[in-house]
Amino acid sequence: MATSSRLSKESSRKFLTLRCSALTRRSNASLPNLTGENPWEACSVASVQSMTTGRIVFLGDINGAPGRMVLEQQLPTLRERYGAFRLIANAENARNGSGLTPDLYETFRRFGVDAMTLGDHVYRDARIVAALEDPLKPIARPANLSARAQGKRLIRLSACPAFSRDLFVFTLLGRVHMPSLLANDPFACADEMLQALPERNPIVLVEAHMEATSEKGALARYLDGRVAAVLGTHTHVATADARVLRGGTAFMTDVGMTGPHDSVIGRNPEQVLRHFTSGMHVPFEMGSGGEAVQGAMVEVNLETGRAMSIERIDLPADHTRAPFRTMHTRP
Ligand SMILES: [Fe+2]
Ligand SMILES: [Fe+2]
Repeated sequence: MATSSRLSKESSRKFLTLRCSALTRRSNASLPNLTGENPWEACSVASVQSMTTGRIVFLGDINGAPGRMVLEQQLPTLRERYGAFRLIANAENARNGSGLTPDLYETFRRFGVDAMTLGDHVYRDARIVAALEDPLKPIARPANLSARAQGKRLIRLSACPAFSRDLFVFTLLGRVHMPSLLANDPFACADEMLQALPERNPIVLVEAHMEATSEKGALARYLDGRVAAVLGTHTHVATADARVLRGGTAFMTDVGMTGPHDSVIGRNPEQVLRHFTSGMHVPFEMGSGGEAVQGAMVEVNLETGRAMSIERIDLPADHTRAPFRTMHTRP
């Protein structure tokens, strides 16, 4: 098994793109099977050495207007370059750096985002709760909150129906240096979530929304061989450790941020510096400049549900083109 990283150009050329005209719903499944209606319905399927693989793109936290703009601009490039059958994004910072509104949820769906996850900012805009509770909307709250927390815990998406496989996505919040929400044990919650899945060898993407690199790494090793990928979010800083673990689980400690990188994790650096140098509370506004789409592409064996490779995504904005041309004056 490949340990990780970029596919060779030669193997990429072997990829066959199959158009999937309709996505099927399995009658014996208890969970809603979300079909989505967007350009990503096209499934890219690879036949390499009789192995059937598909690609999933997962994007780091979409942060404010700069993040929304670079996402909109770079989505055509993402589609063309990675040919993924599903695109999923963490959207917890989409509303001016904190929370997600129903309007922005719909906007991202129109852009072609198949499903959205949320982390510790999940309830910052309470209007999103209706979408979280709607079984047909592909968005979920972190799984390891109280049973009384509002919203569903699992996203189920059809993969390419030619292979009768679905993709399951859930988010686990960390407990180390994460004071903003009270989370339960993410390891026990992962066991519980996996045991409840209706498929054998399911294709599962787990988002590790955690502050501590150690907690993310431990979770990835705990789930190695049981899920396709454990992908970290929350710190907004991408790490250089993308790899496929021994059991076949793709892992990256943090996939980064879809937002402005001329900032301090998305916020205005002057204000953040004033806070750190004075020790006083300072309101943080969004930063701007250096926008990029960051995330990871995971190539999955659709039969086994294990990862074949993982590649880091880092697509910078083109500031000479809309929508940035009218927003920034860059040297
Ligand atoms: Fe977060
Ligand atoms: Fe975030």
